[in-house]
Amino acid sequence: MSRLVVVSNRLADPRRPAAGGLAVALGDTLNRTGGLWFGWSGTVTPDGEPGEGRLQTRQAGRVTLATVDLAAEDFASYYQGYSNSVLWPVFHYRLDLADFRTDYVEGYRRVNRLFARKLLPLLHDDDVIWVHDYHLIPLAAELRALGCRQRIGFFLHIPVPPPLILAALPQHEWLMRSLFAYDLVGLQSQADVAHVRRYMLNEAGAEERGEGRFAAQGREVRVGAFPIGIDVQEFERLGRAPDAVQTYEAMRQEYSRRQLLLGIDRLDYSKGIPQRVRAFRELLERYPENEHSATLVMIASPSRDDVHAYSDLRQELEGLCGAINGDFGDLDWMPLRYIHRTVARRRVPGLCRAARVGLVTPLRDGMNLVAKEYVVAQDAQDPGVLVLSRFAGAAEQLKEALLVNPYDTQGMAEAIQTALRMPLAERQQRHAQLMERIRQHDVHWWRRSFLGALGVQDEVLTAPRAA
Ligand code: G6P
Repeated sequence: MSRLVVVSNRLADPRRPAAGGLAVALGDTLNRTGGLWFGWSGTVTPDGEPGEGRLQTRQAGRVTLATVDLAAEDFASYYQGYSNSVLWPVFHYRLDLADFRTDYVEGYRRVNRLFARKLLPLLHDDDVIWVHDYHLIPLAAELRALGCRQRIGFFLHIPVPPPLILAALPQHEWLMRSLFAYDLVGLQSQADVAHVRRYMLNEAGAEERGEGRFAAQGREVRVGAFPIGIDVQEFERLGRAPDAVQTYEAMRQEYSRRQLLLGIDRLDYSKGIPQRVRAFRELLERYPENEHSATLVMIASPSRDDVHAYSDLRQELEGLCGAINGDFGDLDWMPLRYIHRTVARRRVPGLCRAARVGLVTPLRDGMNLVAKEYVVAQDAQDPGVLVLSRFAGAAEQLKEALLVNPYDTQGMAEAIQTALRMPLAERQQRHAQLMERIRQHDVHWWRRSFLGALGVQDEVLTAPRAA
């Protein structure tokens, strides 16, 4: 029997509902398979030695959580710096927001080495290791350098830009070459796979061997699309629980005479939140019948506050939202409610169900699981409409949503108007088709198809022995 070892920067207790797509999906996966979950503890030690960190383990049901603290200097260069001020903007096509300072990459390498050193002694010979996301791209190379021979898979939750954007990263060759230390690299969409393929051929000089396999430096890696899904049954259960039902009823009462539009995001420039507000403004200008009748609720949870681009966005958004309410609001109606707080996950299904239109309009997004959650939360008899950016990974699957270009303010306003006016029969038909797709490609399908491609079946995975 093999054990599954999941490695990600961000961890959560898999027995409790987490916020954020990655932590939720990995929690759902590990709840099913048992295993070890390794990553950052969330603690920053102010006087910690760079490249060092205390390791702690604890049991959460069938899952062993093993976490490492980060020294303040490492947190600044690895997490805020290289991960979130270099890789995040570049991979989301925002070279203008990237800050290519050399000390960032040093911290990034240091923490990847630290993780490798701390993880290695916890590994069993027959473990299967599954590494997640852009914080940890070179982790397998660091593990291999220490002698690790286990199978290692990597899944990138964010998009991959075209090769010429990647090539703007001063360390792109080193970074992309480190992918060859993995046995399997999973991406969210076919578009991402096409970009990696072109990079491998044009920039890395790799040999293509068919079925997504590329060879270079005496190693072969397989690259494929494994679009991540949600745990549909679990989310439906959450939707029937008292918190969600209460939230739904409270929203219905509050907005009884209004049509509710909803956006739920982390406050991130990739999510296209200002563009959405502009489109909403355009909607009110072009179709005045929505005045006093439509309300946009936008929940933007605080994220990466200390990174400049995020604080700039916050200011911009506060200005835009204030202006819309000032220009259009009335004593008995505010067009927009902007909430810069995290909403408890147990309330999310109720909020989604109360909304006639779900607005998921990122400028670029790996997948976007809120789009799937919005659909699942709907009442199949009287479902709301999903307005989805064509630049979200989810758009490759969710074709029956109203697909929009978030840069096109007028087009987006028209799509929102179409959503608000859509006849019941069409809403039902689109919803049924979306549900079928989301059910078919749920989080369990994702786990099984990725691990299957890595050569492991679910039956071969077992609960952990004590770590
Ligand atoms: C995205 C990333 C995840 C990350 C999450 C929350 O979904 O793909 O890796 O954990 O955002 O961001 P944070 O910086 O708070 O971990």
